Amino acid sequence: MTCHIKDFIMYVVIVKKASRCSQELELQKQIHKHQNSQEKLMATIFTFSSTGNSLYVSKQIAKSLKAEISFMSQKTIECDDDIIGFVFPTFFFELPKTVESFIKSINIKNKDAYIFSVITYGDNIFGANGIVNKILQSKGLNLSYNTQIKMVENYLPMYEINNTPSVQEQSEKEIVQVCKDISEKTTNKVRAQSFLDKLIYLKYPARKNGKCDSIFTVDG
Ligand SMILES: Cc1cc2nc3c(=O)[nH]c(=O)nc-3n(C[C@H](O)[C@H](O)[C@H](O)COP(=O)(O)O)c2cc1C
Repeated sequence: MTCHIKDFIMYVVIVKKASRCSQELELQKQIHKHQNSQEKLMATIFTFSSTGNSLYVSKQIAKSLKAEISFMSQKTIECDDDIIGFVFPTFFFELPKTVESFIKSINIKNKDAYIFSVITYGDNIFGANGIVNKILQSKGLNLSYNTQIKMVENYLPMYEINNTPSVQEQSEKEIVQVCKDISEKTTNKVRAQSFLDKLIYLKYPARKNGKCDSIFTVDG
């Protein structure tokens, strides 16, 4: 009789241990799966930069995300990454032609991708991020996050160069915040391009042929 009780207790202990082991195994599997999915998160920043401002911002974001940087070109590319960024300057309150045609042509395969756009500027971008969103919407996608960073102005026909320590300091602060937002996959609303924005844009004949893009380009 005593022997039966002992056997029974042993049985209960073994069953309990086995169940704890399987729970631990399940937990380990979950952790492993999570780590794998984190490791596999692919991120690319597509950039265009005429004098290096946007390239500098791209490099800071790429560092914080462990992302690749790729230069926007006339080539049509496919991308199935989980995080996709567009970082470039505004030209005439809109997008440089190279940027516009690149975003129009890129084939984004991952419809759940976190897509962001960061526009560098010297004065104002008006609804430039809205243009990016509109192009994406025509492909069934949306910008998850969009913002702008004020940097040293490089459109010298119209503006004084504003390369002062306070502008640079402010840019650095904004870059840190943007890197944090993007790492945390923050989302926000996009300001659409208004009728007035379009009218302002029409005022600049130099925008028409897209030559500005080929006059200034950095790629390294
Ligand atoms: C052709 C051209 C047009 C520009 N138009 C604008 C503009 O409409 N609004 C603005 O705030 N900055 C304008 N800029 C300034 C740039 O957007 C700004 O300096 C940007 O940070 C430059 O970045 P990048 O060095 O990566 O090209 C213009 C610059 C160029 C060269």
